[in-house]
Amino acid sequence: MNAPELILIVDDIPSNLAVLSETLNAEGYDVAIATSGERALKQMEQILPDLILLDIQMPNMDGFTVCQKLKIDSRTCQIPIIFMTALTDLDSKMKGFELGAIDYITKPFQYREVIARIRTHLQLRKLTFSLEKEVSAQTASLQNALHEKEILLKEIHHRVKNNLMIVISLLNWQGESVQDPKLLSILEDSKKRINSIALIHEKLYRSPDLVKIDFGEYLHSLVHQIFATFSLSHDRVQLRCEVTSIFLNIETATPCGLIINELVSNALEHAFPENRSGELFVSLSHDEKDQIILMVADDGVGFPEGVDFRQTESLGWQLVCLLTEQLEGDVQLFRESGTRVVVSFSELNYQRRF
Ligand SMILES: Nc1ncnc2c1ncn2[C@@H]1O[C@H](COP(=O)(O)OP(=O)(O)OP(=O)(O)O)[C@@H](O)[C@H]1O
Ligand SMILES: [Mg+2]
Repeated sequence: MNAPELILIVDDIPSNLAVLSETLNAEGYDVAIATSGERALKQMEQILPDLILLDIQMPNMDGFTVCQKLKIDSRTCQIPIIFMTALTDLDSKMKGFELGAIDYITKPFQYREVIARIRTHLQLRKLTFSLEKEVSAQTASLQNALHEKEILLKEIHHRVKNNLMIVISLLNWQGESVQDPKLLSILEDSKKRINSIALIHEKLYRSPDLVKIDFGEYLHSLVHQIFATFSLSHDRVQLRCEVTSIFLNIETATPCGLIINELVSNALEHAFPENRSGELFVSLSHDEKDQIILMVADDGVGFPEGVDFRQTESLGWQLVCLLTEQLEGDVQLFRESGTRVVVSFSELNYQRRF
């Protein structure tokens, strides 16, 4: 059985206290009494009541002041307060409500009404408590589920990345028994393509939201990794990256990463033959229509005249055209003091599969 609820009556007139406490006792409530505001506050340092009946007119500290003090204290601010008053003017009643009281009863008391009001407010308090408990339990379980989901996503990206690194190791291993330079170069190209995808998963599991990556940061890392795979000194070919922080989902980032791999590899492979020196410039930005603009430019020997980049036999440009189509974007090639390729696209929307 539940313990009886404790009601504190604060009134400076002993006869009021006596009759009220007798009535409440008879209804099964525990009763505590205080004959002044100061005593009531002191008493509450020891034990907190479930409800307070508070007289307004008392010498020294009136009921309004007691109420104010209780409402600013985190221990007592939730205790329902019912004012008891002989004052019938609207201003006093309204002041009581403004200070946080939940109800008032007027003297002389109608005891059946007093009991009915107390019962209702105690029931409301119980309901509020159990609702609050329910909401905080639900919130905790939702936060838990979200945390679990984040860990799982991280784990998946980590595993995909590791598996792709295993594929690269297998290709490395296979390369050891290959003599044909053409075949070896196909293996090398494949490894670079796989690496550009592995890097996306690595960035994703390190990214705070796990769904989008800072593509500017990714591009920077990827371009430097590709540069490192070519035996070019930074003195001969200078690398300049100008990237803005643009967040992309995996749908957009993967094809875009592969395009960057092809264009940067092409510049490093074809633009600077026979010890020619120059600059490779890579940038990522937004245009005025909020499209994402990727530019890879070099000041090398220039793209061969007469070659249509949309109709090559070679895989590199076929991939660039295919992936740009997949991004629903556009690719342009400019032959001006070297080669400049501009790819424009928007982020693809995530398509729900499950
Ligand atoms: N930045 C560049 N500067 C000069 N020539 C280039 C440049 N990019 C590409 N080319 C020329 O365009 C051709 C087609 O490029 P593409 O990437 O399709 O093929 P690839 O690099 O020869 O082989 P892969 O299929 O392995 O990429 C190259 O062979 C090269 O002659
Ligand atoms: Mg190529």
